[in-house]
Amino acid sequence: MRLASGHDAIQLEGEELAKVQRDFEGYSKGLVRLKPGGWVLPAPYPKYADKLYNTKFRETDVVIMTYPKCGTTWTQEVVWTMRNNPNLDHPKASAPISVRSPFIDSDMLMAMGKEGSKSLMSEFLKGAVPDPDPNDGVALQLTAHTPDPRTIKTHLPFSLMTPDLLDTAKVIYVTRNPKDVVLSFLHHTRLMKNINYVGSLEQFVDYFVNDQLIYGPYWEHLREAWPRRDHPNMHFVFYEDMKADPMAELRKLNHFLGTDLTEDQLEKIARYTSFEAMKKHEKGALEGKNMATFVNEEVVKKDGGFYRKGEAGGWKDRLTDMQAAKIDAWTKKNTLDLGINFKYSI
Ligand code: A3P
Repeated sequence: MRLASGHDAIQLEGEELAKVQRDFEGYSKGLVRLKPGGWVLPAPYPKYADKLYNTKFRETDVVIMTYPKCGTTWTQEVVWTMRNNPNLDHPKASAPISVRSPFIDSDMLMAMGKEGSKSLMSEFLKGAVPDPDPNDGVALQLTAHTPDPRTIKTHLPFSLMTPDLLDTAKVIYVTRNPKDVVLSFLHHTRLMKNINYVGSLEQFVDYFVNDQLIYGPYWEHLREAWPRRDHPNMHFVFYEDMKADPMAELRKLNHFLGTDLTEDQLEKIARYTSFEAMKKHEKGALEGKNMATFVNEEVVKKDGGFYRKGEAGGWKDRLTDMQAAKIDAWTKKNTLDLGINFKYSI
């Protein structure tokens, strides 16, 4: 199937699909791979692809673009708070983050899983949109109806979004070292019932370095963003830098966003968005009381919830030397032409 972005979407099939479906029980509808780019996405993606690609942004929009597990939610909370709640007194500040800062490409994720998460989002939609059409993409409609200034989340890379994105909106690209990403992503895929990964860590590392996880290839995602880093509407954040010195990153964001907040306001926001503070409000900030409908409780008990560890360098305790070496070799191969250096601990 040919998409408006110029990509062909090809369903995974045969042994590759059978293997993925054994390990990821939630991918019962399958996956697609796009050509060119090799992007792997849930099977319902083509249904929303052209709407996503043709979405026009506004000058007041800030788009937070990430490969999954790089610190998206943290950055959403920081940016939404800086823009909408600088004095920490906004009456709707405790509403779920996906309502305050919509995840524009999440319809395909909701369509891929069981009904639980879908009906939950539909509930929010009813509140936000006067006459919603549930077939038209809940997240897309929520995004369209979010009042200015919008802080929008996407995991899609630049090539699957409108080509004039940076000419119109501001983009914050958040990235994180791949060794911590793989562990955070492993946890996420076990935690979420609509993905339900049942394979091992070893296999998961292989999926990652073979560019078979959704929203990958990881390096391709970065390769599209990194050369745009000096564009005046583009701002890069490294998870490790935000962890090491949140105030320094908040000051840079203050400048980039033009929010003009005082040091005192920024300090309060840094505390309000610390890992410990956000973890305390985990249930409400994610999807309200219904969290149990979409997370595996045994995984929460064993390894933690959505806010798992919030550390830089945690991979040192979990990855074997072999697994770390595999990621290093893959990193070396992919960064030769990029000139990007990650911090692997702080
Ligand atoms: P871990 O699984 O390593 O703990 P995303 O929002 O892109 O899905 O990223 C999730 C990762 O960011 C998780 O990493 C989560 O714990 C971490 N995170 C979320 N909020 C954070 C915060 N306030 N400070 C530090 N890390 C945070």
